[in-house]
Amino acid sequence: MSDIIVAVDGPAGSGKSSVSKEAARRLGFAYLDTGAAYRALAWHCLDEGVDTADAAAVAARIDDFDYAIGMEPDRYFVRVGGEEITADIREPRVTAVVSQVARVPEVRAGLTALFRRLVSEHPKPGVIVEGRDITTVVAPDAPVRVLLTASPEARMSRRSAELGSESTESTAQQLASRDAQDMRVVDFMNAAEGVTTLDSTELDFEQTVEALITIVRAAPTA
Ligand code: DC
Repeated sequence: MSDIIVAVDGPAGSGKSSVSKEAARRLGFAYLDTGAAYRALAWHCLDEGVDTADAAAVAARIDDFDYAIGMEPDRYFVRVGGEEITADIREPRVTAVVSQVARVPEVRAGLTALFRRLVSEHPKPGVIVEGRDITTVVAPDAPVRVLLTASPEARMSRRSAELGSESTESTAQQLASRDAQDMRVVDFMNAAEGVTTLDSTELDFEQTVEALITIVRAAPTA
């Protein structure tokens, strides 16, 4: 298979991270989780006592943001300033403020440049890049572009299962409010022109992974 970029977007709880990572593993591709960078910057702001509601203060953190991410599906990690924060970026306190960080234009420009550099440097035959604006902003010319969706009900029950103890009602509220905030910045609910929609509402994990792999293999350059 020739060098190929697979761009995958979708809302929270669509399963895009776990599906993209497993598809990358099976294809022998690298995997880039872009949401992790927004989360890591949010974590960094909290760690440094930066008010995440202050866009200028957040923007001032992007230039010397010392970020590293593992792009091997089996060796995933996230580091800031050399400190491993792979689990910390999933904490509710980070999830609660990440949309504030992600809406700052300087942050989006800085991280978009970082993602393009990471993709261009990857050593594998291909890379699956997942997030919210990959098909439209980060890699609009990618040969494979997919919007992974699922009904709100399916997304909420998957996210509750992931979080375990949290009640479905509060998970639903958090998910809806984060999606609403994020949608003001980038539309990840409607497929842009040329983007293939993969609706996983009626599919289990295995079927969704296989469906994504089928789309990748059917691509003209694959
Ligand atoms: O996929 P996730 O939940 O880990 O993403 C965390 C946040 O980062 C999410 O609220 C939206 C934002 N994000 C973004 O704005 N653009 C991306 N390409 C990826 C994530």
